[in-house]
Amino acid sequence: MAVEYITSKNLFYLIGETMKLMDEPLAKHCERVSYIMSRMLECKGGYEKYEIADFMILAMVHDMGAHRTDNVRKPLSFETKNPLPHSIYGYLALKYLSPLEEQSKMILYHHMDYDTTKNLDYKYKDELEILKVAEIIDIWHGAFADKFNHKLLDRYKGTKYSPDACQLLYDAVDKYDIFSKIEDGSYRKEYEESVEYVLLSDEEKEKYIKLLMYSTGFKQESMVPETIATIYVSRELGRKLQISELDKNEIYYAALLHDIGMLSIPKSILELPRKLTKEELNLVHTHVETMEKALEGRLSQSIIDIASAHHERFDGSGYPRGLKGSAMNTKQAILQIAELVINMGEPKSYREAYSKEQIIEELNNGIISGKYEGIVADTLLRNYDEIMDKAMQRAQVALTMYKKLKHNFQQVYKNFTN
Ligand SMILES: [Fe+2]
Ligand SMILES: [Fe+2]
Ligand SMILES: [Fe+2]
Repeated sequence: MAVEYITSKNLFYLIGETMKLMDEPLAKHCERVSYIMSRMLECKGGYEKYEIADFMILAMVHDMGAHRTDNVRKPLSFETKNPLPHSIYGYLALKYLSPLEEQSKMILYHHMDYDTTKNLDYKYKDELEILKVAEIIDIWHGAFADKFNHKLLDRYKGTKYSPDACQLLYDAVDKYDIFSKIEDGSYRKEYEESVEYVLLSDEEKEKYIKLLMYSTGFKQESMVPETIATIYVSRELGRKLQISELDKNEIYYAALLHDIGMLSIPKSILELPRKLTKEELNLVHTHVETMEKALEGRLSQSIIDIASAHHERFDGSGYPRGLKGSAMNTKQAILQIAELVINMGEPKSYREAYSKEQIIEELNNGIISGKYEGIVADTLLRNYDEIMDKAMQRAQVALTMYKKLKHNFQQVYKNFTN
């Protein structure tokens, strides 16, 4: 599947942007670790530019697992108090759901002492030690402020951190003056220069976009199966409507990313066991514009247009723009209808799932009133069982890896704590 829709560089920035939606200070920490690591690798030498860029992506997502743990909100406490859970979640996410399968163990070990990691038989052993130093030095830099001195590392050289990696950090300080640049923000220039070398295949791009979608599950678990089901319902609908491959692809990427804006909505609101108040609802509705902002200028506009219309309705009653039918197209209608049926079919904390009969009634009423696009909604109604059965079957298969990840967490945790 060709992904002409996004350049490698823009995908890198989209990953960063998505991390920011979850937690801005944490995303900035990841960005700095990414920068520090790139400078240390430059000092080590022997890497192609695009290889360094790959490690920068890894560093960008190194703490991704923290969103799954409860203490992500306390500034970086998951890094120091009990770093194991976020290391395992991050490791499993990258192992099963990203192109960084081989490097994923770097995340698993990124808070373990050199005493423990020095005897590992692992291809990315050196890079692991570099990540560890980049990680801790950024945390200290933030925590000690004026009293910060990177030579603090000397105290732990050879026990917690590898002597070679410590030396690389000292070299990077001498050569690039990294902490002054971090303090005045000018590190971004070098950082962006390195990002120019990110080089991803179409398959890798697709995997990263999927990873961003999966990250919504760290926030609210039900979002992943719902999004995957929406993808397959829209695909079956597209097939029935005989739309082009190009259109199908655009809907696919729009469906993958349509709800990533939910990452910025607090968990406390998403989990309320009642109907939301008007203010709360307005806040939840911002997820569409948030997503749009994250994608703007990075992803092809026709995909953004599909994603950003997923809550619009043909009679103008939707949000955020209140677009009417004449301003919308079939691709947008397909995602709207797919998202709608999946949403109705899922139980929410404040209501039960709609039955098949209730969903059909809602669609019928909506066709008559002009709320839903007639041809698309009618296609679903006429082929309801076939479309839903096929879509659900495919969704189940697609969810296998995700389920494996959840299952494996307990296992890995036990291995490390026993
Ligand atoms: Fe970190
Ligand atoms: Fe960490
Ligand atoms: Fe949505």
